[in-house]
Amino acid sequence: MLNIGLLGCGRIGAVHARSISLLDGVRVAAVSDAVPAAAKALASKSDAKVMESLALIEAQDIDAVVIGTPTDTHFDLINAAAKAGKAIFCEKPIDMSADNIQSCIKVVEAAGVPFMTAFNRRFDPSFANLQKRLSDGEIGDAEIVTILSRDPAPPPISYIKSSGGIFRDMMIHDLDMARFLLGEEPVQVYAVGSALVDPQIGAAGDVDTAAVTLTTASGKICQISNSRRATYGYDQRIEVHGSGGMLRAANVHENTVEAATDSGFRTAPVQHFFLERYEAAYRAEMVHFVEGITQGTPLSPSITDGLRAQVLADAAAQSLAQGAPVTV
Ligand SMILES: NC(=O)c1ccc[n+]([C@@H]2O[C@H](COP(=O)([O-])OP(=O)(O)OC[C@H]3O[C@@H](n4cnc5c(N)ncnc54)[C@H](O)[C@@H]3O)[C@@H](O)[C@H]2O)c1
Repeated sequence: MLNIGLLGCGRIGAVHARSISLLDGVRVAAVSDAVPAAAKALASKSDAKVMESLALIEAQDIDAVVIGTPTDTHFDLINAAAKAGKAIFCEKPIDMSADNIQSCIKVVEAAGVPFMTAFNRRFDPSFANLQKRLSDGEIGDAEIVTILSRDPAPPPISYIKSSGGIFRDMMIHDLDMARFLLGEEPVQVYAVGSALVDPQIGAAGDVDTAAVTLTTASGKICQISNSRRATYGYDQRIEVHGSGGMLRAANVHENTVEAATDSGFRTAPVQHFFLERYEAAYRAEMVHFVEGITQGTPLSPSITDGLRAQVLADAAAQSLAQGAPVTV
């Protein structure tokens, strides 16, 4: 039995606890949360012990930790877990600072512990299928990748103020997806952005509407479109145009019923937000983590993937501030 310690029992912690509960040979053996009631509530569902975070990390009978705490706590928890020899699954972003992530890489490598960065979208069945077919050569070489990623509504202003900005908080998923699909590192980042959804977001020094163009050394291009608002739900689409055709992954709707009348065709709304839209992806990423530990297979996305996406997010923020492309 693989014993996992879950750090953070909030939104994403509950998702990971549920994913683990569906797997054989693994269990959430202990949980911790800064708010004891949150830890107790999740522990009661999974028959886990409630522990203090550092005691959990150091416990002899814990094999691996899942870090689902706020981003500004990841650095200390990663350092402690690596030193305790635990396999680590860490939520994105690993840290707001690329320097801190680099320091985590050194600690993780020195300890030789398995590490996985939770870029769950790579495990979405449609996006994973698209990437596999692209890398199998079904449409030749990728030339232009288009990623559309729009949230149904902005988070509270208090969240925006501590989020690190749209590129590090939201677009980081798309920047990782861009790397996943391009198969080459972007060497140039050009960002534009505006506060069109809520002027308070602009007053907080952030944007809520952003577009980024990434270019690789061979000239491949990726365009990312982000908005903190989409009146029709969570808009998550990908298109790759290649030398021999095109691959596209559409939105996932609440159901597949279509109604046709004299005014046209109507479908159900798209799934509302990430908890519903990426449920299968969250499960699949946990299967990958558990298999990696139990079978000794490599974990991907790695901690370096976490760093590379962060470097691109930093470059996008710099490009927006300077009004010019930034070389990575
Ligand atoms: N991959 C995704 O799709 C996805 C989605 C949402 C959030 N996230 C990431 O997950 C992390 C958590 O986000 P969330 O939305 O679940 O936040 P949340 O606020 O809902 O939950 C975080 C929990 O951690 C607890 N906590 C704080 N410090 C702690 C500590 N030192 N030890 C133990 N518990 C502690 C808090 O009390 C809270 O219950 C963030 O890094 C966020 O970026 C990723």
